[in-house]
Amino acid sequence: MTTSQFVAEVGVIGGSGFYSFLDDVEEITVDTPYGPPSDPVAVGTLPTGRRVAFVPRHGRDHRYPPHKIPYRANLWALRSVGVRQVLAPSAVGSLTPKHGPGTLAIPDQLVDRTYGRTQTFYDEGGAVHLSFADPYCPVGRRTALDTAGAAGWPPVDGGTLVVIEGPRFSTRAESRWYAAQGWTLVGMTGHPEAVLARELALCYTPVCLVTDLDAGIEEGAGVTMDEVYRVFAENIGRLRPVVAEAAAALPAERDCPCAHALDGMKLPLELP
Ligand code: ADE
Repeated sequence: MTTSQFVAEVGVIGGSGFYSFLDDVEEITVDTPYGPPSDPVAVGTLPTGRRVAFVPRHGRDHRYPPHKIPYRANLWALRSVGVRQVLAPSAVGSLTPKHGPGTLAIPDQLVDRTYGRTQTFYDEGGAVHLSFADPYCPVGRRTALDTAGAAGWPPVDGGTLVVIEGPRFSTRAESRWYAAQGWTLVGMTGHPEAVLARELALCYTPVCLVTDLDAGIEEGAGVTMDEVYRVFAENIGRLRPVVAEAAAALPAERDCPCAHALDGMKLPLELP
C-alpha cells in the first residue's frame, strides 16, 4: 500500500481478543522503515460507521514478548493508514489494595523503568525534544472515562503507570518500592508505546485492566502468568465494547496538545 492511503482515523493496539470488535475487516500488510508491525493491520468499521484500525500488540499468536514488540513499526503503520488517535487497552497489576482484579483504570501519568527499548523515531539527523509532561491525550482520557462509566464500569480516573522491562514480574521489594513512590499500576507495554505515539503527534490513551495485585501488595505467592491471562479472559467480553464505544465517541476534529506536538519542529523524517 502507499503511505498516503487514508483508511482509518482511530487505532487500537491491544490483545488478540480484540479482533472481533470490528465488522467487514480487511487486513492490510503495511511495511515501515522499522520493519513490519506485530501483524497486518486489521481495518474495519464500527456500527457507527467509524473506521478503526487494529494491531494485536503481541502478534496474533502472541509471539512478541513485551521487550520484543516492534513498537515503532506498530505506531508508524497506524499513522500510515490514517490513524491520528490511539486507544491502548492492556493488562496491568495494581499497586494499591483497593483496586483489585477487574478494576478499569485510565492513568494520567507514566514512569519508564524499561531499558534497551528504542524509544524514539528521531535518533538520526538532529535532535527532537518533545514535551511529554502529560503523556496521555486529555480528550481521549475523558472519552474513555465517560464511555466506561456510561457502560456501568466506572474506571479509576488518574494514577501513575510504571512500565517495567519484563518479561518477568516484579519482586516484592520492587513492587513495594513502586507503591511507596505513589505509583498505582504496573505494566510491561505502556512504554515506549506512549512516547512513540507523541513523536508522531498521535493522541494516545491507555485503557488499563487490572488483572492482579502486584507481588508487594498481596500476601500470596505472587503474580502468575496464568492469573493474568485468566482475569484478562474473564473481562475481555466487557472491555471490548468499552473500547469500541470510546473509539466511536472520540471527536473527529482534534483540538488537544497531542495534535500540535510537532508544530514548529524541524523533523529529520517525513512522517507518513
Ligand atoms: N501485567 C499484568 N499484571 C502485571 C504485573 N503485576 N506486573 C507487570 N505487568 C503486568
